[in-house]
Amino acid sequence: MAILAMDQGTTSSRALVFSDDLQVKARAQHEFQQHFPRSGWVEHDADEIWTTSAGTARAAIEKAGVPGIDAIGITNQRETVVIWDRKTGEAIHKAIVWQDRRTADTCDRLRDEGVEDQVTDTTGLLLDPYFSATKIGWLLDNVEGARDRAKAGDLAFGTIDSFLIWKLTGGRSHVTDATNASRTMLYDIHRGDWSEDMLKLFNIPRELLPELRDSADDFGTTRADLFGREIPILGVAGDQQAATVGQACFQPGMMKSTYGTGCFALLNTGDQAVRSQNRLLTTLAYRLDGKSTYALEGSIFIAGAVVQWLRDGLKIIREASETQGLSEKADDSQQIIMVPAFTGLGAPYWKPSARGAIFGLTRNTGPAEFARAALESVGFQTRDLLEAMRADWSRADDAVLRVDGGMTASEPAMQFLADILGAPVDRPVNTETTAQGAAWLAGYRAGLCPSPDDYAKAWKLERRFEPEMDDAARDERYSAWKRAVEAVQAV
Ligand code: G3P
Repeated sequence: MAILAMDQGTTSSRALVFSDDLQVKARAQHEFQQHFPRSGWVEHDADEIWTTSAGTARAAIEKAGVPGIDAIGITNQRETVVIWDRKTGEAIHKAIVWQDRRTADTCDRLRDEGVEDQVTDTTGLLLDPYFSATKIGWLLDNVEGARDRAKAGDLAFGTIDSFLIWKLTGGRSHVTDATNASRTMLYDIHRGDWSEDMLKLFNIPRELLPELRDSADDFGTTRADLFGREIPILGVAGDQQAATVGQACFQPGMMKSTYGTGCFALLNTGDQAVRSQNRLLTTLAYRLDGKSTYALEGSIFIAGAVVQWLRDGLKIIREASETQGLSEKADDSQQIIMVPAFTGLGAPYWKPSARGAIFGLTRNTGPAEFARAALESVGFQTRDLLEAMRADWSRADDAVLRVDGGMTASEPAMQFLADILGAPVDRPVNTETTAQGAAWLAGYRAGLCPSPDDYAKAWKLERRFEPEMDDAARDERYSAWKRAVEAVQAV
């Protein structure tokens, strides 16, 4: 028995084959090109997303050497928009990526019209270009003939999961799951259905939309020619939600934070859709057996990407893994604060126009201090999220943070995180949580994987980081960060 997890991320497409006890048997990965046609614009070639996804899936299956794949789970970068022609399967434009800020003015205009409360009441989201709705509108208004073709039912919209399923099934399924739908700004998170009001507000024809499914559900079967036979697609979740499942955060009050390109913290709030008073998002954690489980989410746009900047922008390291060693050489007497607002500030500030800054430079400041400040910026940003979660929901007070993603390999970064949060940080044995979450969803639907409770029992701690910093030092450092963030918003 084997399950294929396809993990289509912002910078690479990955595929992993899992045994039915969710051990990794093989993996393959392919980076693809990022397109930046203008300042603040980020696009992907939908065709490249498809070919790298199919290619890595085939490569992983071949490496695993298993007789067959029983089920497929898909997890993906969320919010990114593809619109394609239903007849040809060809995208009408490059995919507009979640990081893309081209619709900031549209969001400002709608905010001025006073509709943000209505949007948040229905979708749990804030009016920001991050989400899909205004990006869909941009494509319909800027690709010639697109709006008429959409109204005539000739075009299809999907987040990346939906586009991949269309391709995998040869156009037989146009579907998405509730977690991906909850990021479009067109989905009523309380009713669990597309919202006619939001479709009207964003002027988006209903004909474009996929059908909705639970996260463990029947999404269709693959074309037989792709992998040698038809394989059912049985699990789908946005990558941060899949990581929540992979981290076994099934109980209200459990929280995970994933450090990839950005950092996304999700706090399970059970069957309560907690309305944030502190500019967090209310979103679907997962939808299983017809029942929605909600989360409060804090989204930070730059986490691991700050290390990429040290490597590719400043060129002070050659490999991301050098950051840790370099940061350990930093002079303790220098309190450098880096605010990596390269693409604006996400939660809880939501300032698309803010830009990054570094404070506290002296003649002795060098690469080591930059490396440490970069790692610490991730801790400070996570503290912002935790503060907001605690203010929104009292049950967040005792939450232990489960972490995953590339940056969690850094011991100093994780120790600083525990120090600045003043709370324990748990790093699991399995760090492939996103793919494993998708595999579990598919395996659960197929009857191959255990119930959520049994899966949760199998979650294993690798190391707990306990806070070591004293309260006064923590307060002083965090106050310095808050002043720095205020300063970047004032410029
Ligand atoms: O909301 C965006 C998020 O899903 C992207 O995740 O890991 O591809 O950077 P990642």
